[in-house]
Formats: sequence, structure tokens, C-alpha cells
Amino acid sequence: MSKVSVIGAGNVGATCANAIANMQFASEIILLDIKEGLAEGKAKDMMQTAKLYRFFTQVKGVTNDYEATANSDVVVITSGIPRKPGMTREELIGTNANIVINVVENVLKYSPDAVLVIVSNPMDTMTYLTLKKTGLPKNRVIGMGGILDGSRFTDYLSIALGVPSSDIEGMVIGGHGDTTMIPLARLANYKGVPVTSLLSEDVLGKVIADTMVGGATLTKLLGTSAWYAPGAAAAVLVKSIVLDEKRAYACCVSLEGEYGQNDLCIGVPVTIGKKGWEKIIEFDLNEEEKILFKKSSDAVRSTNQVLYESKVL
Ligand code: NAI
Ligand code: 2OP
Repeated sequence: MSKVSVIGAGNVGATCANAIANMQFASEIILLDIKEGLAEGKAKDMMQTAKLYRFFTQVKGVTNDYEATANSDVVVITSGIPRKPGMTREELIGTNANIVINVVENVLKYSPDAVLVIVSNPMDTMTYLTLKKTGLPKNRVIGMGGILDGSRFTDYLSIALGVPSSDIEGMVIGGHGDTTMIPLARLANYKGVPVTSLLSEDVLGKVIADTMVGGATLTKLLGTSAWYAPGAAAAVLVKSIVLDEKRAYACCVSLEGEYGQNDLCIGVPVTIGKKGWEKIIEFDLNEEEKILFKKSSDAVRSTNQVLYESKVL
């Protein structure tokens, strides 16, 4: 019996709830939005696919009723504004910081033991804000970005290699930003064969560049940011928590000396289980990757600084 709440019934929140229902691992999903009737309508629509997809999960939508989310095992926070074409994720900070603080306070009133999954952008900074504001044990606050970026990386690799992305492993660490993410080409592989030995430097360089602006490319096409892969990526993360799978994913977590960083939430590989993120997988980056990771950390830290300057923290 697992209960998951998803805050924000917009594109990403609703897609995430729908993916969780279809993955059949939760008994109950509460979808909550501030906009009257939106979550109720989307939840009802999803429930009318239960017979078609044959899922047993009960999806219920509510308007700002946090009592309904009581005793959730996991809460996914997607509330906030998405970016418009030309905007960076970082430009969303002011509006989304206030929304995230308000939502997290309400969530914890009714689910004091929940693991929180932060999706709202700028995600690395929203994860840091949540950790700092709540004082929760660090393992219970996880930012979702690396799973999505990794999935985009394997999509672009699959096109370049002409093989299914499910046969490719590719990890993206660092910040979840167009200039801060680090697709680790050196470690990406097709069935264990390094992609560096299968693709030319030029092609690989283009795959990396396309991955980094993967979100922006879709925002330009859609007029708002993407939702299918973001929603699915959040659902996969929730599954590893609920089922205590201990799967390894790149997630945004609090670093205390790991990878040479302190007082920062940023994407690194971690194992995910019942308690949230459980273990940081620390491995040796090469010199070039170390420089990129330091640069990415500095950029995320300077975005976090806005929270202090604007007295949000
Ligand atoms: P959206 O606009 O479709 O949905 C956001 C929803 O949040 C709206 O329905 C809105 O009514 C609701 N909302 C706003 N304030 C609220 C509050 N105080 N309480 C409850 N609900 C509230 O936006 P979308 O596309 O779903 O994106 C949501 C967030 O996720 C954005 O900040 C976006 O940038 C971010 N995002 C993050 C990704 C990641 O990988 N971390 C990937 C994609 C989007
Ligand atoms: C994305 O990567 C904007 O974070 C959002 O699609």
C-alpha cells in the first residue's frame, strides 16, 4: 500500500501521475493543483483509462486540499511556472521559490515522513531551497533532472548509433541547466562497448551539444517546456523509492564533500530506495570532467545566491 501525491496538475504533474498509475506500483495517487477543478478533471480522465490499461491505482484530484495528501510516502513537486521559448530555467527562480516554499510547508504538515521529489525549476536551486527551509534529513530531498537529461542523452546517442536507446547507458551529471549539465560521453556505452569507440569525435560532440539544449529545443517547438519525458523520469524515480529498488540514477542531492563540493545540491549518481537517496556513488572524474563539474557547481551556487540576496533564505 503506497500513497504518492503529485503537486501541480499541469503538464509534468499530470503526466507523472498518469505514468505512475500505468506502472502499477502505487495504490493511491493524489493530484493537487491550486487551479479549481483542474486536478479533479485530470484525475477523473485518468481513472477512465483504468479499465483500458487495467491498472488498479486510485487517482484522485483535489484543489489545494492538503489534508487529502496525508500520509503520503512520496510527494512530487511540479507546481510552478514552466519556461517559455528563450527563457532559461534560472529565470523562473523568483516565482517558483515562493510557490515551492508554500507547497512544501503544506505537504509536510500532513506527510511529515514523506520523501520529497523536486521537479520545479530551476530544479537544483529549488532542491537546495527545500532542504534549507525544511531542515529535513538530506536523504529525503531529491531533485529530478539527471534522469531526464540522461534519457535525452541516450535518445540522441540512439539516433547517432542507429540502435534502440534501451540498449544504451548514458549518464548526465552536474546542474540541470543548458550550460551546466555534463553528459559523460567517456562512460556512455552500447551494450558495454564505449560509444567513444563507435562514434567520431564530431558526431559525439554534436550529441553532447544537442543533449545540453534538449529541453530548450523542445520548448521552442512546444511554446512551453516538455512533459512526457519529464513526467516519466519523475515516475521512474518514485518507483525506485516506493519499491525500494536501490536503482542508481543521477539525481540532484546535497553534497557534503563528495566530488569536492559542500553546501550544494547538484546532480550526481546515487542509489534510490525507501529512505530516499541512500548512497552517493563517487568515482574518479578525469581532469576535463573535474573542471566541468567545478564550473557547473559554481554556476548552480551563484543561482542559489539569489535566494540569499532576495531574502528567501
Ligand atoms: P504547467 O504550467 O503545465 O503546470 C504547473 C502547475 O502548477 C499549474 O497547473 C499550476 O496551476 C500549478 N500551480 C502553480 N502554483 C501552485 C501552487 N501554489 N500550488 C499548487 N499548484 C500550483 O507547468 P509544467 O510544464 O508542468 O512544469 C512545471 C514545473 O516543472 C516548471 O517549473 C518547469 O520548469 C519544471 N520542469 C522541470 C523539469 C525537470 O527536469 N526538473 C522538466 C520539465 C519541467
Ligand atoms: C526540461 O528540461 C525545462 O527542465 C525542463 O525540459
